[in-house]
Amino acid sequence: MKVTIAGSGYVGLVTAACLANKGETVTCVDVNEEKIAQLNAGRLPIYEEGLSELMQSSFGTHLFFSSDCSAAYCNSEVVFIAVGTPEKKDGSANLKHVNQVAEEIAKAANQDMVIVIKSTVPIGTNQRIRSIVNRFKDPNIRISVASNPEFLSQGSAIRDMLQAPRIVIGSEDTFAKTTLEQLYSSFDCPIVHMDCNSAEMVKYASNDFLALKISYINEIANLCEIVEANVEDVAHAMGLDPRIGDRFLKAGIGYGGSCFPKDTKALHWLANYHDYELKTIKAAIEVNENQKLKLIKKARKYYDSFEGLTVAILGLTFKPGTDDLREAPSLVNVPILLEEGARIQVYDPVGMKNFQSIFRETVCYSITPEAALKDADLCFVLTEWQEIRELTADIFVKQMQHPIILDGRNCLKKSCSKDNRLTIEQIGL
Ligand code: UGA
Repeated sequence: MKVTIAGSGYVGLVTAACLANKGETVTCVDVNEEKIAQLNAGRLPIYEEGLSELMQSSFGTHLFFSSDCSAAYCNSEVVFIAVGTPEKKDGSANLKHVNQVAEEIAKAANQDMVIVIKSTVPIGTNQRIRSIVNRFKDPNIRISVASNPEFLSQGSAIRDMLQAPRIVIGSEDTFAKTTLEQLYSSFDCPIVHMDCNSAEMVKYASNDFLALKISYINEIANLCEIVEANVEDVAHAMGLDPRIGDRFLKAGIGYGGSCFPKDTKALHWLANYHDYELKTIKAAIEVNENQKLKLIKKARKYYDSFEGLTVAILGLTFKPGTDDLREAPSLVNVPILLEEGARIQVYDPVGMKNFQSIFRETVCYSITPEAALKDADLCFVLTEWQEIRELTADIFVKQMQHPIILDGRNCLKKSCSKDNRLTIEQIGL
């Protein structure tokens, strides 16, 4: 099938690479000519495990990049819209780009096609897109609009798509339904069909449920600290109940990334707009915001002020396996420490370049975890990268002036927490 993907961001590139790998002819377009030039030169604008290799395997045969959007749209049987829907100040989703692309596709189309909305959009968007398309399309051609939400996690996106547990398709007519069924026929998983509004809701309801699960275990962790219980044991036993499941029950300093924070706020905003309050989601958002300050509160037990202290920050990204800093706890913790006059030494295996573009020279960048720990009075562990997990008690003792470690991911070795030369605080333990 001839497929075009509008938007060469994270979702667009992964979708393009996977469909090209399945034998479809895929053109990925973007208005950003520099990005397209980079992609055509074999350089990826994002870090995602396995993506570069997958792209190379079909580049030039099944996978193409172009900034001539109209030319790509007019020859396609399926066009995916995978542009960003950033959060507006009030928490609602900004649909400017989605609307604009829908109009351009409709104007360019010269054959029957299905427009598939992959971007995460508020419930009801497909209906508005359908009316935009009908306003601008040639009346002699048929264009259906469908919803096909993505469930890709950064760091495992290729696997999440190629070995998806389900594919959700929202459609309102047989043409859209059968076209997408054919496109996904080689994927070995159930295809769940429903109307477009429900498909759009599946995406928000899934992300918000996972965010809720994390905030729930974080609250239980906070209570465990008060009543002297161990949240890791509690979560393990809870997770063995198949009705609960063991994933997304890891207590820590809160969720970040481009999805959970945005999608919880967007659904909460949407409910408010319809005069309904989503109390559970509101609570999840509040718990998460407080959780990000948890280590700062713990640190105050040891130091009245951070003025003049050297603080090591291990891990900057919102989770391992990505260079993405969006809504990462580091972005909340570092400014507080800097404001109070601490000297900050940071380490992250892939996130330092992005961090530097925000924090410039206000912090020191270390090329190893050991260098970041050098002479430190405090250490914050914010991301559970494997090399951070593997640090031993000896390293902390040798490098730090005062080995006080605040492990916001409960990821350090058990031998560290048992070593009485170190002071270690974790979450819910
Ligand atoms: C999330 C969803 O997991 C994907 O299914 C979804 O498609 C994606 O959003 C999206 O909407 O595009 P992602 O943001 O890449 O994926 O990251 P996750 O692995 O879900 O982690 C999100 C945050 O939750 C991270 O900060 C992580 O550290 C935190 N987390 C996760 C916990 O604190 N505890 C857990 O048990 C799990």
